[in-house]
Amino acid sequence: MKTLQRPEVHTPLPGPKAKEVLARDERVLSTSYVRPYPFVPEAGEGVWIRDVDGNVFLDLMAGIAVNTTGYAHPRVVEAVREQAARFSHVCFSDFSSEPQVSLAERLDRLAGGGFRVYFGNSGTEGVEAAVKVVRYHTRRPYILAFTGAFHGRTLGSLALTSSNSKYRKGFAPLLPGVVHVPYPHPYRPPFGAKPEDAGQVVLDYITHLFKTKLPPDEVGAIFFEPIQGEGGYVVP
Ligand SMILES: Cc1ncc(COP(=O)(O)O)c(C=O)c1O
Repeated sequence: MKTLQRPEVHTPLPGPKAKEVLARDERVLSTSYVRPYPFVPEAGEGVWIRDVDGNVFLDLMAGIAVNTTGYAHPRVVEAVREQAARFSHVCFSDFSSEPQVSLAERLDRLAGGGFRVYFGNSGTEGVEAAVKVVRYHTRRPYILAFTGAFHGRTLGSLALTSSNSKYRKGFAPLLPGVVHVPYPHPYRPPFGAKPEDAGQVVLDYITHLFKTKLPPDEVGAIFFEPIQGEGGYVVP
């Protein structure tokens, strides 16, 4: 692939090849995939991404921040190539494998040590696993979550998601035992508080809930985004 270095747009957008792929996409793919804009990528390199018609764009999205090394980072490509030539799947639910153990050790070290690692295929799967770990080990029925939160779209994590009612529409009843409280949003503080008091009023509200409605020793977990994403890129 020619090294991409600057934006280049040669066709109307979407171009003819992108239009053709999108028409086929519409016939065959699940309607649960939304297409907010008609971009059909073909290849990426670092911060640049090329569509199927050869148009090149500066990418500010990185696959929702998943590709933080940039597209097709040579070391990532090499590691994938090397492993794919050995095997890509032998079912790690049943067998151990040295690269998997090495990666888990490294993640444990980076997180401060003393953790156990679960590898999942997506964010929502990680949240599902966390809910199960909490239920299994604490036997406590309640979970606290925050309004504006996005934790995923599968049925368990959907019960924690509270950023847009469209995600829940048509899927109730969801996992019971999830209680939402306001996020300490400094721009739109809950309960009419001043921005600098947003955290305190939320803590006061949780304390109030613990006294009046929610036995604290029956709460197994609090799911909290350190920075909300879907809820509006909110730093609490
Ligand atoms: C905070 C957070 N949790 C969970 C998810 C769900 O991840 P996935 O789309 O990989 O299931 C997302 C996705 O954007 C997220 O932003």
